[in-house]
Amino acid sequence: MASAMSTKASPVHPQKITTVKALVESTGSSSIPSFYNLTPYLRDEPIAGDAEDLIPIIDISLLVSGTPEEQSQIIHQLSKACSDWGCFMVINHDVTESLTKAMIASFQEFFDLQEEEKKEYQGKHVMDPIRCGTGFNPSMDKANFWRDFLKCFAHPEFHTPNKPAGFSEIAREFSKRNREVVIILLKAISKSLGLEESYVEKAANFELGFQLLAANYYPTCPEPEKAIGIPAHYDHGLLTTLVNNGVSGLQVKHNEKWFNVNIPANVLFVQVADHLEILSNGKYKSIAHRALVNNKATRMSIALAHGPALDTVMRPAPELVDNESDQPAYVEITYRKFLELQQTGRLRSKFQSDVEQSKAD
Ligand code: OGA
Ligand code: NI
Repeated sequence: MASAMSTKASPVHPQKITTVKALVESTGSSSIPSFYNLTPYLRDEPIAGDAEDLIPIIDISLLVSGTPEEQSQIIHQLSKACSDWGCFMVINHDVTESLTKAMIASFQEFFDLQEEEKKEYQGKHVMDPIRCGTGFNPSMDKANFWRDFLKCFAHPEFHTPNKPAGFSEIAREFSKRNREVVIILLKAISKSLGLEESYVEKAANFELGFQLLAANYYPTCPEPEKAIGIPAHYDHGLLTTLVNNGVSGLQVKHNEKWFNVNIPANVLFVQVADHLEILSNGKYKSIAHRALVNNKATRMSIALAHGPALDTVMRPAPELVDNESDQPAYVEITYRKFLELQQTGRLRSKFQSDVEQSKAD
């Protein structure tokens, strides 16, 4: 009896599947469960085309060792990049290609672990230092986004799973190198706002800054036009640095249109995030972005959120709130509280994701 039953194909219940990877590997189906069909969110806005020739390129080596003229030129470019686009491509940085490749390979090994082994790290709360899962915001959504993830706190405390072998060392080095790039950028960004060079670092208590290392895993999807990897959202923190495995999928919203961003090898893609918007009193705005999926290759991306210290109250720099009519437009709130409100959908502002907003309406 038992053996006869086990030869029958069992129907797939998406609710029982813990990762999209397991779903894809268990079915081999040419269609997606209706659970993942988000077509209405994808069809509403036009795609403008590819943006990598439009997005500003920042040569960070000139910020470090350029002449004073070169440095001020880059600071000017940064100011334009942050106010026009809210994102830019950093070249000539110290996050080497081999380190990035090793980090991507190591995350791949993590996602390749048995589902049972990954379960140990299935966190529920935004403050769990190691958390893997599926979807976008598991405490709020049903698992209807085509993406698995692993998130680890990288600073001021460093936490990683103890599997796979070598993961921890690579993650530590990768996070540290990214953080060094961000420190250089934050100094230049402070200057670009007319503030002294350590202004943003001090205001955010960046020495104890919260850094989150997150990997996204988007398996091939048989109906990519119906599903979405991550819906439109803004990142929390000051800046996000992002790399991927050479497979495209990222889109950014610019002038009300969506643009594809194919991130070249050796480029760190940097996005302005919510807390830089708050600190700059809206002079620089966090950028809306999302991740699409495809039916050809698994996509992986690694995003690092570089934020203020968790218990620092973030508010607009008084220097940038200069007259009566220019009142600060942002609530004063610690980064920790911001994350908790965001995670539970109680953040009433532009910082809530478009999809969550439209669902809530
Ligand atoms: C994110 C994110 C985009 C990508 O992790 O917050 O927006 O390209 N990722 O995977
Ligand atoms: Ni994001």
